Amino acid sequence: MSESITITDNRTGEAVEIPIVNGGVDAAEWKKLLPGLWFLDPAFGTTASTESAITYLDGANGVLEYRGYPIEQLAEKSSHLEVAYLLLNGELPTAEQHDDWVHEITHHTYLHENFRRHVHDAFHYDAHPMGLLTSSVAGLSTFYPEAKDIEDPSNRMEQIVRLVAKMPTIAAAAYRFSMGLPFVFPRNDLDYTSNFLSMMFSIAEDDYVPDPALKRAMEILFILHADHEQNCSTTAARVVGSSHADPYVSVSAACGALYGPRHGGANEAVLRMLAEIGSYDNVDAYVERVKGGEERLMGFGHRVYKNYDPRARIIKDAAHDVFAVTGKNPLLDIALKLEEVALADPYFVDRKLYPNVDFYSGLIYQSMGFPTEMFTVLFAIPRTVGWLAHWQEMLEQGSRIARPRQVYTGVETRDYTPIESR
Ligand code: SDX
Repeated sequence: MSESITITDNRTGEAVEIPIVNGGVDAAEWKKLLPGLWFLDPAFGTTASTESAITYLDGANGVLEYRGYPIEQLAEKSSHLEVAYLLLNGELPTAEQHDDWVHEITHHTYLHENFRRHVHDAFHYDAHPMGLLTSSVAGLSTFYPEAKDIEDPSNRMEQIVRLVAKMPTIAAAAYRFSMGLPFVFPRNDLDYTSNFLSMMFSIAEDDYVPDPALKRAMEILFILHADHEQNCSTTAARVVGSSHADPYVSVSAACGALYGPRHGGANEAVLRMLAEIGSYDNVDAYVERVKGGEERLMGFGHRVYKNYDPRARIIKDAAHDVFAVTGKNPLLDIALKLEEVALADPYFVDRKLYPNVDFYSGLIYQSMGFPTEMFTVLFAIPRTVGWLAHWQEMLEQGSRIARPRQVYTGVETRDYTPIESR
């Protein structure tokens, strides 16, 4: 038995044998046999859009690895910036490489003052922070016109450093704007995650240092959200980047995709769902409404994972460390009951619907003091390096512009009719 498939065109009897390589087959091979015939795959449910060496998922077994390292080990032992280096460069940094990388990021956290002072002037005070972030990141491209030179690897890395470094600053600025609080400047004496918490929550404290347990939980959440192969927002970044648009607008496009409740907006939707359920005793009735198709169980289900999302398991454990500091989130019992009921119900079991990364993360964010509207922003900050690792890989692969075909189902050719005779 050869590792290949054979496609036969029954109209002509012609056939082509295509080797199976790394679990895929090359579409260019059947294009020779079947010119003008397209494989229809809306939402790319069974289509690989690219080869990639960055992240590996095994949905059936709930496996997630960044550059070969299991997510469980990285969450326990690494930091977000070390994981960011790994995703971008393919290897964990040496001590010297790590120190240089941290120094680079630390010294690019500031925003141009024209940008910082005026980017919010155009928005209402209660503008959703994801709307602010998506537009701000695109606007940032106007401050770095050299970013259009996407062919130069050192220029690409300079923009990557700026985006990874500035996303927390932009995010915190959006939050402070929405709260009517003064902007908190980045500090170079704090690590990446502590600096973000300082820009978010310090009030007239030049020496703000976050609680170590909360800081560690934030670090773990950033690591878990850093990348996830060809998800919707990463696909958006790769598609927009394939036109050779600059990395700022490519990341802005990814922010837009992440904003949707089916994707990164789910963590915000989970909290609203738990609040709507309101009490432990209402869980069974809500589950019945989900099974009746009236509601979706937000934070459940996944295109790839048909088992427990490994990230959800880690977050569930981290939640207990946070609640030991902040006090238990009152919605936790509802979430735990919802999971218990759903995992025992054939409706969910048959559809392989398990908790995903978004089911428990919002409970932690809420207990740490983040408003619900900030939850997707907390997804976008760490995912920025994943988007950029894929954007960089796409350019290194010499990718052509993304331009899918279609199966036309419209009306046949017809002549224009004057308006008086319609
Ligand atoms: C993320 O892709 C990634 O990697 C994403 C992500 C990342 O790190 O980038 O992992 C992050 O986006 C996680 C997902 C967060 N979204 C949610 O929690 C929203 C709720 N989940 C769903 O809307 C849904 O499960 C998706 C969008 C996540 C996946 O959708 P699919 O793969 O298109 O599945 P589907 O909609 O075709 O559903 C298959 C069946 C359907 O039932 P039938 O029509 O066959 O009877 O399962 C049902 C759906 O109705 N179903 C659900 C459900 N999810 C799917 N029913 C109730 N509640 C749900 N959450």
